[in-house]
Amino acid sequence: MSLHDLAARAMHLLDPEEAHGLAIKGLKAGLGPRNHIDLPILATTVAGLKLPNCIGLAAGFDKNAEVPDAMLAAGFGFVEAGTVTPMPQEGNPRPRLFRLTEDRAVINRMGFNNEGLGAFASRLSHRRRDGVVGANIGANKDAEDRVADYVNGLSHLWGLADYFTVNISSPNTPGLRALQTKAALQDLLGRLAERREALAPEGDVPVFLKVAPDLEDGEVEAIVEAAVDSGLDGIIVSNTTIARPSSLKSSKASETGGLSGAPLTERSTAVLGQFFQAADGRIALIGAGGVATGADAYAKIRAGSQAVQLYSALVYGGPGLVVRIANDLAARLKADGFTSVAQAVGAR
Ligand code: FNR
Repeated sequence: MSLHDLAARAMHLLDPEEAHGLAIKGLKAGLGPRNHIDLPILATTVAGLKLPNCIGLAAGFDKNAEVPDAMLAAGFGFVEAGTVTPMPQEGNPRPRLFRLTEDRAVINRMGFNNEGLGAFASRLSHRRRDGVVGANIGANKDAEDRVADYVNGLSHLWGLADYFTVNISSPNTPGLRALQTKAALQDLLGRLAERREALAPEGDVPVFLKVAPDLEDGEVEAIVEAAVDSGLDGIIVSNTTIARPSSLKSSKASETGGLSGAPLTERSTAVLGQFFQAADGRIALIGAGGVATGADAYAKIRAGSQAVQLYSALVYGGPGLVVRIANDLAARLKADGFTSVAQAVGAR
């Protein structure tokens, strides 16, 4: 076991949010792992973004864009920083982050705690632009016009991020998920498209939408149509779930918030499959939710995603995880006769 993995184990003796804070500090101090993943079979292009490998870090780990380059150096093919809101925000009272160790899962009700667009933009502007870093944008809890907050995020960070993710699927900002309903979504995406068109001459970048795995019948199709109509480049499926599968064993299972990790794997991959069917090749898909192994990543690729993202498995797998997933995924692709990950997309 590496020193990094030992350190990751020791973190479990701490309160989860303190452990996360320490991890960020260590990464900022340059103590993170350096893993060079040289597996051309995993290289791919998503909505024009050239990724050295298809395994990304999901939003929420680096909310303030403090360590995107350290996470790229750890081996991730791309990193999504945020969610960032226009104004700094405290988030919900602690405790608000829970390990469900027996279930290999996490529940969080952070509530978009972050330092706001100013600090986020300043950090991005000081980095050497090497490697794909996206900005996941959201709305302040007390915003009078939530759509304006997203438009503000796009404008403020334009030119600083390699892509944007419009996050309307956090369960921890009351009412936010209502933006996924048809009329609200059309309004949001229409106003974003207008602003994007005005900004595009300065260099267009892809814009993705991130959705919840808890959707009603017909919502998948409505979201796909609205996304395609407004010229979005991709959909990230999915955020955390408010469902609580009966299989959960941990005493923390009844905490309020979004559940992620192993109990979300199957559900999020199934919803991804529905999006793939509805999209019919018209828009890129990125799969997230419970990816902890090469097999999980491969299942999402075959269900229709061009790349995957993960967060919760890092809590249990430690920093060596990306390399293990990458090697395993590459071996699985080769065993099935594929010479690139792109060939396997949707090949159920
Ligand atoms: C998240 N996630 C998240 N997503 C997002 O779009 N904005 C955010 O700020 C956060 N914050 C956040 C905090 C914590 C502690 C967790 C565990 C998760 C959701 C995350 O990006 C991902 O979509 C889900 O967690 C599912 O993937 P995993 O964690 O099962 O790999």
